[in-house]
Amino acid sequence: MAQMRLDKLLGITGCCSRTEAKKLIRSGAVTVNGIAAASADQKVEPQQDTVIFCGTPVVYRQYTYIVLNKPEGVVSATEDGKDRTVLDLLPADMRRAGLFPCGRLDKNTVGLVLITDNGALAHRLLAPKSHVEKEYRFRSKFPLTPSDVDLFEQGVVLEDGYETKPARLFLEPSGDAGRIVLVEGKYHQIKRMLEALHNKITHLERIRFGPLTLDGIPNRGDLRYLTETEIAALESHEA
Ligand code: URA
Repeated sequence: MAQMRLDKLLGITGCCSRTEAKKLIRSGAVTVNGIAAASADQKVEPQQDTVIFCGTPVVYRQYTYIVLNKPEGVVSATEDGKDRTVLDLLPADMRRAGLFPCGRLDKNTVGLVLITDNGALAHRLLAPKSHVEKEYRFRSKFPLTPSDVDLFEQGVVLEDGYETKPARLFLEPSGDAGRIVLVEGKYHQIKRMLEALHNKITHLERIRFGPLTLDGIPNRGDLRYLTETEIAALESHEA
């Protein structure tokens, strides 16, 4: 394993941002093999050196996990001839070969996208039988009603005859906005569910993917590494 800068290690392991790392290292809060780290650009061997951050050992991981608050107009792909992709939004120090978005949001859907290089985990999380909850905030052209809530619960028959798995619909008093929770991710699923009810989605934002939320990344284009707790929660998800 190649050496890397100490501030990079603290960043990719989710301890703190690289800017914060500089300050914390200067204050003596980081040790490498028992000795207070000298500077942010000090080189460390992540799998061999013992790095302690504010009293807690830093765990280096083989895989990278990033959560992005996707803006409108960006595509969930690794490359695209025309549009910017979610990978184009990663700053240079977060880029790494093999990263890809785990699942897709439409170009005009905003919100939470998980980006990782752990193919096996992504495969497991996206498998139809895995039933990872995906939660969305939406606005619709016309108000929805309590009978639509029941329909969502029973399953909506899409234009191609597919019957969706039970989904939860929570309506605001106006009826034309609320939240939807799905346990599957068919192509354009929510738009097609609303079309099946002779309605139309006018705004869609994913706010949760399993245990992951937009905490700490409130603005479009914001991104951060997952915490150890979030990684453990994803990794313990059974397919
Ligand atoms: N359902 C949709 O229709 N679009 C998305 O991007 C996500 C869920």
